[in-house]
Amino acid sequence: MKPVYKIGTRKVAIIGAGFVGASIAYALALRNIAREIVLIDIDKVKCDGEAKDIRHGIPIMGTADLYAGDYVDCTDCDLIIITAGRNRRQGESRLDMTSENAEIMRRVIDSVKKHYTRGCILVISNPVDILTQKASEWMSLPNGMVFGSGCLLDTSRFVRSVADYLNLSTGVINGYLVGEHGDGQVPVWSRVTVGGIPIEEYCQCIGIEWNSNIREQIETTTRDMGAEIIRAKGKTHYGIATSVCFIADAIMNQRPTIVSVSSPLMGEHGVRGVSLSVPSVIGPVGVQQRIREKWAPDEYRRFFDAVEKVRGILSQLEC
Ligand code: LAC
Repeated sequence: MKPVYKIGTRKVAIIGAGFVGASIAYALALRNIAREIVLIDIDKVKCDGEAKDIRHGIPIMGTADLYAGDYVDCTDCDLIIITAGRNRRQGESRLDMTSENAEIMRRVIDSVKKHYTRGCILVISNPVDILTQKASEWMSLPNGMVFGSGCLLDTSRFVRSVADYLNLSTGVINGYLVGEHGDGQVPVWSRVTVGGIPIEEYCQCIGIEWNSNIREQIETTTRDMGAEIIRAKGKTHYGIATSVCFIADAIMNQRPTIVSVSSPLMGEHGVRGVSLSVPSVIGPVGVQQRIREKWAPDEYRRFFDAVEKVRGILSQLEC
């Protein structure tokens, strides 16, 4: 039977008004995805400044009401986006921030819980897979209502790299990454298509070189993109902000979609108790379903390596 969803208020709260949170607010406002956008941060002065700066441009081309608020404003949101946490520094991996950002996440979740009534929770803070698992356990909502951006941005970077190699626009490349956001990402090459044609066959037909070296180059470029940007400008925020708009649109405007995001696995591919990215159906209540499609043996092996890595870190986490 077709599920029936209550039409929400298209209200979103963004917790953390740093570069990531503010860029998400800006992107959502530009695209008119939400009706009401609330920015929340412990630094109330900065938060108010960011909110006003974005708010002042809205009358020219947008419709959203955007303001700096407090946790009480999480009460009637369709979507609560958590970006709080410290930034990754040059030379660090996303996992180096685990304990500090887990403590911050614990405090954020405690505050959200006091006012939560409905809506799904999207975790952006890094390491996103670890924090998604913890936030989900702490919130105790039905499975899938707390999920993380996971491999969404990695997938976008991957599609960009493949399109650049083939000299095509990104719209004709279909593919996705699974596993851990960042270093443990796994491109599912066996499922990549170009205009609906498997990539290897496409390259053969067109006469473009295609081999394991080229695949490795694309993988390395994709995986290192975040670190490259951090070396260049000290942070990443626009890419993730744009990606989040895609998810927010699916949730707030009732446009269910399929995307590789992180959520607590419940036996998919034999894994449970760990949040990692797999292709998932996203709708108004978050991850509605995770798809159990088949991959190549090497893709499974790499996915299971990511599972073990994330599971190991989770087991050492004290909070
Ligand atoms: C990045 C951050 C979101 O990869 O982890 O840009």
